[in-house]
Amino acid sequence: MPTLTWVGKDKVVNHHHEVPFRVLNQQYRFNAPADKPANSTNNRIIHGDNLEVLKSLLPEFEGKVNCIYIDPPYNTGNEGWVYNDAVNDPKIKKWLGQVVGKEGEDLSRHDKWLCMMYPRLKLLQRLLAKDGLIFVSLDDVEAAHTRVLLDEIFGYGNFLTAIAWEKRYTRSNNAKLFYSLKDTILVYRKSTAVSELKEGRTEKADANYSNPNNDERGLWMTSSYVNPALKEKRPNLSYLILNPSNQIIEHPTHAWKYSQEEHERHKSEDRLWWGQDGEASYPRLKLFLDEASGMVPVDLWSYQETGTTDEGGFEIKEIFGSAIFDTPKPTRLIERILKIATDENSIILDSFAGSGTTAHAVLKLNSQDNGNRRFILVETMDYAETITAERVRRVMNGYGDGSKTVAGLGGSFDFYNVGEALFLPDENLNEAVGIAAIRDYVAYTEGIPESDRCAQDNPYLPHLLGLNTEMAWIFNYETDSVTVLDLNYLAGIKLGAAKPATAIIYADRCLLDEAFMRQHGISFKKIPRDITRF
Ligand SMILES: C[S@@+](CC[C@H](N)C(=O)[O-])C[C@H]1O[C@@H](n2cnc3c(N)ncnc32)[C@H](O)[C@@H]1O
Repeated sequence: MPTLTWVGKDKVVNHHHEVPFRVLNQQYRFNAPADKPANSTNNRIIHGDNLEVLKSLLPEFEGKVNCIYIDPPYNTGNEGWVYNDAVNDPKIKKWLGQVVGKEGEDLSRHDKWLCMMYPRLKLLQRLLAKDGLIFVSLDDVEAAHTRVLLDEIFGYGNFLTAIAWEKRYTRSNNAKLFYSLKDTILVYRKSTAVSELKEGRTEKADANYSNPNNDERGLWMTSSYVNPALKEKRPNLSYLILNPSNQIIEHPTHAWKYSQEEHERHKSEDRLWWGQDGEASYPRLKLFLDEASGMVPVDLWSYQETGTTDEGGFEIKEIFGSAIFDTPKPTRLIERILKIATDENSIILDSFAGSGTTAHAVLKLNSQDNGNRRFILVETMDYAETITAERVRRVMNGYGDGSKTVAGLGGSFDFYNVGEALFLPDENLNEAVGIAAIRDYVAYTEGIPESDRCAQDNPYLPHLLGLNTEMAWIFNYETDSVTVLDLNYLAGIKLGAAKPATAIIYADRCLLDEAFMRQHGISFKKIPRDITRF
């Protein structure tokens, strides 16, 4: 399989492993007024660099995100984005803090962008659920590079499509060569667990249905009964049928589309249409709108169906009164993505959140279908609070005056920032992050299934981290004293009716001998911390 190389690639392919786990500190919770709908709760807006944030989301969300939409800087040379990752390499360190320049002026601009994206895409891939989808918005500057990058990270076989989104509808003569009317949205699945996709029906598709004979089953359309294959190729689909005047009909050259058994069923269900006068040469099959499920998504999205970049700008003006954000996507675009990739309970992640269009689209869709989709947004700039969170607040509360009033969609979100790292440079635990974050991290690294995790106030033992029929996980940790795994400690462990045959026990020291531990199925793990101070 072809792969892409660029300056710095070898330094970033494993960088996501080096990124520290940090705690995400909740700053506040916003709740829309109680009279608004309450179906959009448990949402998060996180202010911080998405590299650190994505890493820190792993303990809670690895393999759980159903839909990722990202709209990273397109690297046009006009965005003023800066490569700022702490990759330990002298060449890369020279890039730090400098605004990435324009084509022709900055020879490493594509290398910087790819170095920035690679570790983030690696983390996004781990966050995505087995049956999840990722959508990446780009233009021609980086779309081709990114497709090869995504092939490498997600697997070539998981590429689904490159959607051409018609982002403008007016031509311009400002360009000297080609003027671009489209963006590309690359779509990958996490795995073959995604084997079929449907999107909601469109007004245009539904306009093909009518009811010229007042069928009580409602609007219908027809499809051809004649097989494109010749009779000799499909002898099993070549048979004689009766028309409404009881004449025997045979297609002179082609087979029928349906087996004789299916044909009998169509007849008994009154699904054959012989034209308004009943005299057509061959029947057509009636398809009822009520029975039509969604449609297979296509890869060409017109501005009429999904809006334009201008529409995204108008939406911001309506919400804020002025154009305070340069590159918002129209909500209709993200809604279409959500209709393909989510159900009512999906978790949606946008780690380049900007003005928060993704949250807006989630709220709209939840209000349409009474869903409980949850969003996680990440934005590095300080406007995470003043634009991203503020837009979501306004959409939840309602905005606009007079005839332009838009009703609040309700809901709530928690606003976080990025706190301390879980480990100190000497690789010991940073105990300042607090016991809850430490316990969560240990539970994650032990791979304790969510359903087996125990809170500190569980009925058995405050140190218990997880319990199932085979295993107990115990984190014997006290903030201000050295903990010991010995016979005394074992004697104090009471797990009620549960009798797991094995246990993993963390402590500062262990006084049990190896043979005893083996005999009783106990594994000891030392808590990585400096205990000389006690
Ligand atoms: C093109 S805008 C996204 C616009 C968004 N889709 C909307 O509709 O408003 C890209 C956003 O990604 C943010 N961003 C860039 N690098 C980031 C990083 N490392 N972590 C988090 N956000 C980042 C930028 O600040 C910017 O707001």
